[in-house]
Amino acid sequence: MTRPKTKILVDGGDPQETRRVKELLGFVDGQTTNPSLIATNPHIRELIASGHKLSNREEMDEYRKIVQTISPLVGDAGVSVEVFSDQKTTAQEMFDHGREMFSWIPNAYIKYPCTAEGLRAAQMSVRQGMRVNMTLCFSQQQAAAVYAATKGTKEPVYVSPFVGRLDDIGQNGMDVVKNIKRMFLKGDGHVLVLAASIRSLEHLLYCFVLETELATVPAKILEQWASKNFPMPDKQFQYRGDGKPIPYEELDLEQAWETFDIQHELTRKGIDKFAADYRATLSRPA
Ligand code: E4P
Repeated sequence: MTRPKTKILVDGGDPQETRRVKELLGFVDGQTTNPSLIATNPHIRELIASGHKLSNREEMDEYRKIVQTISPLVGDAGVSVEVFSDQKTTAQEMFDHGREMFSWIPNAYIKYPCTAEGLRAAQMSVRQGMRVNMTLCFSQQQAAAVYAATKGTKEPVYVSPFVGRLDDIGQNGMDVVKNIKRMFLKGDGHVLVLAASIRSLEHLLYCFVLETELATVPAKILEQWASKNFPMPDKQFQYRGDGKPIPYEELDLEQAWETFDIQHELTRKGIDKFAADYRATLSRPA
């Protein structure tokens, strides 16, 4: 196979699956996890099915064991680990949580949501030399805010635009990826684009065309790619998104992050869903 320039991460929460994909591809550059994916890890599901709900500490310990098993399996794109957050979680709470998670493995990227509190937590984190992955990104303005908030970081910062969830609401999710890549041409390169919520082989191939630095992909899609003998997009490749086009916005990356319009309905909904899935595994919900 021709190895794409785009780094390939497994989007999941099960080390066995990561091993399987690694065998299939011959490599795995990294991994992303999130609270919903951890809640569906086979061991956690067994615990819940047997009637054992977890304490907060047990849930953290299980998450830690999962990422510690995945950590040595992956390459230099690392393992993204997501902090717990709901609409009320403060930046300090996210940061404290993130700092603990960052100590679990040598190649962690801490995931914070693209909200004001998440951006503040990211700012505190990069000042401490931590690697971050800004998740639940649905707009160019949110990505611009990530850029502005993390300027001066010594470590690369990831921003994760969620393609599939924008498609779900009738928009062309790949446009956000394309627009962010275009906007970052004017930047200093400290933020890397990690295309997320990839739902099809077409999404993945278009990431290769756009040269996103990274893409996180469910095992199912990587298996499809392998079953077709790892096709790469040729010059004729055209991505045909069905959704409404998302126009490019001229934004000034030198503005203060607080001046960008970072509100997005899908960011709010995404936080609620992650929090609900996390809480469903707990005996005494946080
Ligand atoms: C990865 O970082 C994201 O959490 C993941 O890609 C979300 O995918 P979904 O929209 O299919 O849940």
